[in-house]
Amino acid sequence: MSMTTDKVKVMRLDELPMQIGKEVQVNGQSIAIFRLSNGDVCAVSNRCPHKNGPLAEGIVSGEFVFCPLHDWKISLVTGEVQKPDDGCIQTYETDIIDGYVYIGGAK
Ligand code: FES
Repeated sequence: MSMTTDKVKVMRLDELPMQIGKEVQVNGQSIAIFRLSNGDVCAVSNRCPHKNGPLAEGIVSGEFVFCPLHDWKISLVTGEVQKPDDGCIQTYETDIIDGYVYIGGAK
């Protein structure tokens, strides 16, 4: 593992199915990564700001994930919780290099 600001290789892109979250550990943080239906790869904190629901297990629709515990709707692009709920989760830089997914620093 490297420092927080460095990119960390986490998995092969072809191991990340569309719209199915995967949990990875990066620098001691639990991070949920997703491949959206448009092909973009997003990485966010794997803890729902409500009661720590594991967002990697949520249902993905467009750019949003629905928390598996109480269905909060959260943007995987901005990290913002959608109304009527409130809050924000950490998002992380992602990169695809030679078929591998890399996670970078917090955005
Ligand atoms: S823990 Fe995510 S909505 Fe309650």
